[in-house]
Amino acid sequence: MALIKKDIKIAVIGAGKIGEAIINSLIEAGYKNIVATCRTERRKKELSYLPIDVFLDNRKAASKSDILIVSVKPNQVVPVLSELKDYVVGGKRLVISVAAIITTSYLEDRFRGIKVIRAMPNINIIARHSATAICRGKNIDIEDIRIARELFEAMGFVIEVDEKYMDAITAYSGSGPAYVLEFFESFLLAGLKIGLPRDIAYDLAIHTIIGSAKLLERGNKHPAEYRDMVITPGGVTIDAVHILERTGFKADIIDAIKEAYEKAKDIASILI
Ligand SMILES: NC(=O)c1ccc[n+]([C@@H]2O[C@H](COP(=O)([O-])OP(=O)(O)OC[C@H]3O[C@@H](n4cnc5c(N)ncnc54)[C@H](OP(=O)(O)O)[C@@H]3O)[C@@H](O)[C@H]2O)c1
Repeated sequence: MALIKKDIKIAVIGAGKIGEAIINSLIEAGYKNIVATCRTERRKKELSYLPIDVFLDNRKAASKSDILIVSVKPNQVVPVLSELKDYVVGGKRLVISVAAIITTSYLEDRFRGIKVIRAMPNINIIARHSATAICRGKNIDIEDIRIARELFEAMGFVIEVDEKYMDAITAYSGSGPAYVLEFFESFLLAGLKIGLPRDIAYDLAIHTIIGSAKLLERGNKHPAEYRDMVITPGGVTIDAVHILERTGFKADIIDAIKEAYEKAKDIASILI
């Protein structure tokens, strides 16, 4: 299958944390025609290191693009698309929204004929290791979804899902780096507590976490099976696992992510 031409024109509308990471991934992947927008001079200055034009005018950016990647906060999506109405009604541009909560049907009801793909990446885009879920609106064809896939593949792993899962995915992998990094930090503090030098603790923690993820990626076993390979009866590991079981570590993770999902649904009920 032919790859998208690298001179395709892409406008990143709302170059905040995620938008900036998207821009850097696309530049690294060889896309040559990227422009971006933000709202303030302060942010524009922060982005001045990028080899692209950054505008404070969304219409100017949209006029120079084939694809709009919308990465403003959810409550800004409709105001921004209203400003860009001439470009999005009738499917004149492919719109890829990475905003949480805002559904494709909500946008289709407001912008006649809009071609919209909703995506939920995560901040691991910075390391080109995002886990991104995408879903298609009703005016999207196979070519549009192929383009979205290829763009997000420059940022890591991509999976297409039914939109009914997107709020759960927002709370799961969208917010996921925050949970994993909480664990990482606890692991690191534990290393310091038992007397490891900071740099040694840091490197060993990173490689233990990467290695465990690779084990699951390459192997075909359930995590508990690999965990049991570490636990010697009456040995060292079981004492730690005992504490985690007693203090409800797993239940805490499940409750925490469920709470985030409930919050996503609450916000959705207010916003849309
Ligand atoms: N952060 C994550 O981990 C993550 C993960 C997945 C999805 N998302 C989604 O990505 C979106 C952005 O999140 P974020 O964390 O990157 O937020 P952010 O850092 O606050 O970025 C939002 C950007 O939008 C710009 N902006 C606001 N109003 C605008 C307007 N009217 N026109 C043009 N630009 C405008 C802001 O510019 P100024 O800075 O100049 O005000 C800011 O740079 C959200 O919808 C979120 O749900 C975020």
